Amino acid sequence: MAQKLRIGVVGAGRMGRIHIENLLTISRVEVAAICTVLPHEIEWAKKTVPNAVVTPDYDEFIVSDLIDAVLLVTPTGFHKEQVLKAIHAGKHVLCEKPLAATPQDAWDIYNESLKYPSLKVACAFPRRYARVYTEAAARIHRGDIGEITTIRSQTTDLYQNDDFFVNYIKNSGGIFVDCTIHDIDACLFLIGQDITPRTAYGVGTARLFPQFLEYGDVDDGIGTITFDEQTVMTVYGSRNNRHGHHTMTEIMGTKGRILINGQPRLDQIDISDETGTRMVGPSSHMDVFAPAFKLELEAFRDWILDGAKVNFNLKDAAKAVSIGYSLMESLRTKTLAPVKEY
Ligand SMILES: NC(=O)c1ccc[n+]([C@@H]2O[C@H](COP(=O)([O-])OP(=O)(O)OC[C@H]3O[C@@H](n4cnc5c(N)ncnc54)[C@H](O)[C@@H]3O)[C@@H](O)[C@H]2O)c1
Repeated sequence: MAQKLRIGVVGAGRMGRIHIENLLTISRVEVAAICTVLPHEIEWAKKTVPNAVVTPDYDEFIVSDLIDAVLLVTPTGFHKEQVLKAIHAGKHVLCEKPLAATPQDAWDIYNESLKYPSLKVACAFPRRYARVYTEAAARIHRGDIGEITTIRSQTTDLYQNDDFFVNYIKNSGGIFVDCTIHDIDACLFLIGQDITPRTAYGVGTARLFPQFLEYGDVDDGIGTITFDEQTVMTVYGSRNNRHGHHTMTEIMGTKGRILINGQPRLDQIDISDETGTRMVGPSSHMDVFAPAFKLELEAFRDWILDGAKVNFNLKDAAKAVSIGYSLMESLRTKTLAPVKEY
């Protein structure tokens, strides 16, 4: 393997641009090709990475000898087909979350990847590379808080009402598959064992975006998941935060508790004035996780070039889709849903 990883990025939209800009700052990586479909994105890609081959044709792109690995940042509905084509073309893959739109598709990817042990196939979840989460995981795995009994996690996003957001939600898969999938995966990472989810119960409200109900979605959702191993997980997602973004995770164990990001605090800045004292909070997940997005890309590079140990876990990624999907099913049917693995 060359000492430089030649990556092809698929999708130069909202998240793809961030990844491409990050890749350009990372050593031992070359953005050798970009595949994206919209004309203004093609123009942006050519200008931003003048040496890369830019094409809208995925089938031509994926068999190119110019790339060793692909970073997929396309809408979730394309992930299964694109990951499988990449594996079959002999490329390593880092695919944006969620791994796929349905449990069957996610497990098809996982099961197919097992047939190609020389290829590194991962799903991107930046919390696996955020310092607070890796520090908490290390403490949990060495037994600081005993056996995990209950774990709860939330992703609450700043209220936004622009066209991009409202259109994005239509095809996102629903709040538990698109948003709290980060919490589900983070909890699986913190638990650190291959535990078996059994049931999912999801409820929610759509007070600020009642139109979300038309596609079986909500703007605020709470889900509870049970596992065979006596662990209970609760996730909360919201698209209505007026005070900014707040990701928080709490892990209760038989001997103690760990709280991650208990307060929505950006840096150590507090403001005091005649109304009292308040902290300054992050407005987006990028304010909190920007360093983790870069560390994640570096980990993918080091995994391929150096065989480094990584926090990626494709089976957890498939399991997270199963859990998120069952929570959506439960929300829509108003019944307890089984969680299935394939
Ligand atoms: N990790 C995170 O925090 C995070 C945040 C946002 C989005 N995402 C994930 O990233 C993925 C993309 O989301 P987004 O918000 O960037 O969407 P987006 O709509 O802004 O971008 C999608 C991109 O895919 C391209 N595309 C569509 N079909 C294609 C095809 N057939 N071949 C090649 N390119 C194609 C589009 O041209 C566009 O550039 C989703 O899976 C989403 O869940 C992750």
